[in-house]
Amino acid sequence: MTPSIQIIFASQSGRNRAIAGHVQAQLASRAQTVITEISQANAFDLAANDAIIVISYTFHDGDLPDEAQDFFEDLKEVDLARTKFAVLGSSSKKHLHFGRAVDYLTIQLNSSNGEQVADSVKIDQDPDDSDWTRVDALAAQVLASLQV
Ligand SMILES: Cc1cc2nc3c(=O)[nH]c(=O)nc-3n(C[C@H](O)[C@H](O)[C@H](O)COP(=O)(O)O)c2cc1C
Repeated sequence: MTPSIQIIFASQSGRNRAIAGHVQAQLASRAQTVITEISQANAFDLAANDAIIVISYTFHDGDLPDEAQDFFEDLKEVDLARTKFAVLGSSSKKHLHFGRAVDYLTIQLNSSNGEQVADSVKIDQDPDDSDWTRVDALAAQVLASLQV
């Protein structure tokens, strides 16, 4: 059966939205995919997916985006029942706490009993060719974990 993968993204100026679209294109021929903006995502529904991929920028002083806070708080109440997941995101090395939102999301999804199937990927601002290679590798690892 075709696996289902939910891609959840937070993006203010468009980079992470574009990465989410790229990831969806990478997966589309081998999985059923849905993209959800993070403020619209229901953490309590995540375990209905075979895998989830969360993509976020970092804001403030190394914090989650404001619109990701409710999702993050709800995650603390969720049992992901070993749902497979991966996390990535564009943020900026100009800031002290580079990509900290990727770290927070990775830690929380593990704490919520998810199964991390790829190392998290941090991208400095606009992805370059080597970043896209890392993004594609993450998508491939998610697919491989689903044996498709
Ligand atoms: C006010 C502000 C605060 C930011 N703080 C951080 C930060 O603490 N750490 C970091 O790595 N990036 C930080 N960034 C950079 C963004 O995460 C980065 O520009 C990212 O690529 C934006 O993604 P988007 O285009 O999807 O919105 C900050 C950006 C702004 C505007």
